[in-house]
Amino acid sequence: MPPGYRFEASANDVAGFVLGKCTWAVLALTCHIELFSQAHYRASIGDAQGLSPLFKDVFLFHWKEESQHAIIDELEWIREDAKLTSAAQRDAAVDDLIALVRRCRRHPARPGESRRGVLPEHDETRGPRARCDVHATLLKAYRWQYIVSGAMQPRFQELLASLVDDAQMGRIQEALGPLMYAVPQREQVAREIAH
Ligand SMILES: [Fe+2]
Repeated sequence: MPPGYRFEASANDVAGFVLGKCTWAVLALTCHIELFSQAHYRASIGDAQGLSPLFKDVFLFHWKEESQHAIIDELEWIREDAKLTSAAQRDAAVDDLIALVRRCRRHPARPGESRRGVLPEHDETRGPRARCDVHATLLKAYRWQYIVSGAMQPRFQELLASLVDDAQMGRIQEALGPLMYAVPQREQVAREIAH
């Protein structure tokens, strides 16, 4: 990375936060991650033209291997769900999942807001306005790639809907609401055509 950039996110801090949440919520997040990684392959590599055939082949086999993780996470999540014996326990698990989503959506932080800005602190090649624009664009892309694209996966929605009640689903959707602007226009158009 050029001088001035730093990778400040601490893996241990993130792991500590995530592992402080209940297993149900951690498995929900993990299953969501596995499913969006499957979707990313389909969207960016599967049918893409002009990529190196070897590169495509490597990712095809990675995709197949990752699909096993998605299946295992789904089984584990359902098994963990069966251990919840009251609506209050599932409510608390949903609270934890919402807390994980809120934690994820903070990244990357605004330049100057914290030391985890995505631009160098003293970037003389860009004015404050351009720096804000770059930050907003990156934040939107991160939110789409790492949260919203997974939450919109039909398999994830189906699973989640089978495990929570309408009120709990409503609370999760409310937490995701402020992130839905991150859906790229091409996705919105594709969904409208599909419906
Ligand atoms: Fe995986």
